[in-house]
Amino acid sequence: MSTTAPRCDRTAAWAALAGHYQAHGRELQLSEAFARDPRRFESLSFSAPEVFADLSKNLVDLATLRFLGALALECQLPARRDAMLAGEVANPTEGRAVLHTALRAPQGAGTPFNAEVHGVLDAMLAFADSVRARAEAGALTDLVNIGIGGSDLGPAMAVRALEAFRHRGLRLHFVSNVDGHDIAPVLAQLEARRTLFIIASKTFTTQETMANAGVARAWFTAAAPDAPVAEHFAGVTTNLPAAAAFGVTRTFGFWDWVGGRYSLWGAIGLPIAIAIGGERFREFLAGAHAMDRHFAAEPFERNGPMLLGALDLWTRNFHGFTSRCVAPYHQGLARLPAYLQQLEMESNGKCVDLAGEALPFATSPVVWGEPGTNGQHAFFQMLHQGTDVIPVEFIAVKRAAHPHADLQAKLLANCLAQGQALMLGKSAEVAATESAPTAAPDLDRAVLARHRRFPGNRPSTTLVLEELTPRSLGALIALYEHRVWTSGALWGINSFDQWGVELGKALASELLPRLQPGARQGDITGLDGSTAGLLRRLTS
Ligand code: F6P
Repeated sequence: MSTTAPRCDRTAAWAALAGHYQAHGRELQLSEAFARDPRRFESLSFSAPEVFADLSKNLVDLATLRFLGALALECQLPARRDAMLAGEVANPTEGRAVLHTALRAPQGAGTPFNAEVHGVLDAMLAFADSVRARAEAGALTDLVNIGIGGSDLGPAMAVRALEAFRHRGLRLHFVSNVDGHDIAPVLAQLEARRTLFIIASKTFTTQETMANAGVARAWFTAAAPDAPVAEHFAGVTTNLPAAAAFGVTRTFGFWDWVGGRYSLWGAIGLPIAIAIGGERFREFLAGAHAMDRHFAAEPFERNGPMLLGALDLWTRNFHGFTSRCVAPYHQGLARLPAYLQQLEMESNGKCVDLAGEALPFATSPVVWGEPGTNGQHAFFQMLHQGTDVIPVEFIAVKRAAHPHADLQAKLLANCLAQGQALMLGKSAEVAATESAPTAAPDLDRAVLARHRRFPGNRPSTTLVLEELTPRSLGALIALYEHRVWTSGALWGINSFDQWGVELGKALASELLPRLQPGARQGDITGLDGSTAGLLRRLTS
């Protein structure tokens, strides 16, 4: 990645944005902006492959986007994007290229490592289809993916999202947590001889995954002593020798230029390929590749991921909003918020720039959410009337994969209504005219109206998919990946390392012997007062 590109806050465009924020952005009233500009929806929305996005309910106008476009140019985003896609080292603190896009490029695309990628892809999809055939024949009933973080969240999210396309004869389980409450109930449901375990770990050293893999292997050999482990365990990793040492001979590799949270397009996607079949997995890749081409070719003003990523900077650094709620109005996308938490917060939760200098501005927001309409009956109260303004990202899917048209109409009505309510709000004057039969009869009407007032002018984005298919899901995820890159590149940080997870891992290894039966159990030597107190409580 170019080290000559200026950091966002050191550009003329940033200063211009700051002026624009003071003059227009801070006080922008959405209702007035719509009244002023009847074409606001058209001019502040974009179409990218498989995804339409309405940005018009954000606290922006066309001038804001022009300033953000100037910022993108001054920060050399097009050149840095091209360098990343060409395979230059975009992750300098780990000395690696960042080429998850190469995993979804078609054969012969001329992208880096194309032959190697397709070699593994063909082998993996042939294996996936053979697993499906064994399930068809009744020889396999269950598939258990053991992995964590990027080796779990992406496949688990995608398998759930693509439920309508899933092989009906195979139950898929995802075990991630080192908490035995995760694996124990899964093992209790399995018949060993009809189960396939996938041990998924980029490094094949992750404590949680290795511990669960050990439990699974021990359970398997006890339950089916004469059955060959090699036939019931497959491995997905960049560390083939470690997988072989564990006893897994059927392995699918990938490369260090694929970050864990960007890895579901390759062998880590094996459970997805088994669930939906090789052909549909290729559609999933094709959807993502179409988004890659859009990201690589479109100018800023029509580039969906860049617009969203730049808008995230505007929202975070100028409006100062600290979190973003993701509300997919499709139950299949229930795990999307969790997946996006890793994608965005592990990528952009950084406090130093590429040169190691402390940042004087905020980076990743907290990303969280739940599917609608469930969230409406839980935390939406706070979104509408709480003291914090939290931008909401709605995801609407036009066509359902079920036959209940009335439910779908109600779902979409709710999705649109929430964005409307956040934006329009309700004044105390209007609230005062409404009846509230359950209010205490002696309560002052003006006081009641203040409780029933909605401030409004709360921003939201709405993404629309025609249908949730392998192709549209692929495009949607790639849109998010490039969006995260865009805000990270503008902030001048490394979006592809994750040093922040290391300290806790090291301390856990140091504490482990103090919790396990043995000579050091309960030993509090050298611990801080709180940890010592807790350790005593947990071991006495
Ligand atoms: O939590 C840190 C992390 O390194 C993630 O980035 C990664 O996705 C996860 O652990 C799992 O790592 P692995 O696939 O190597 O087991």
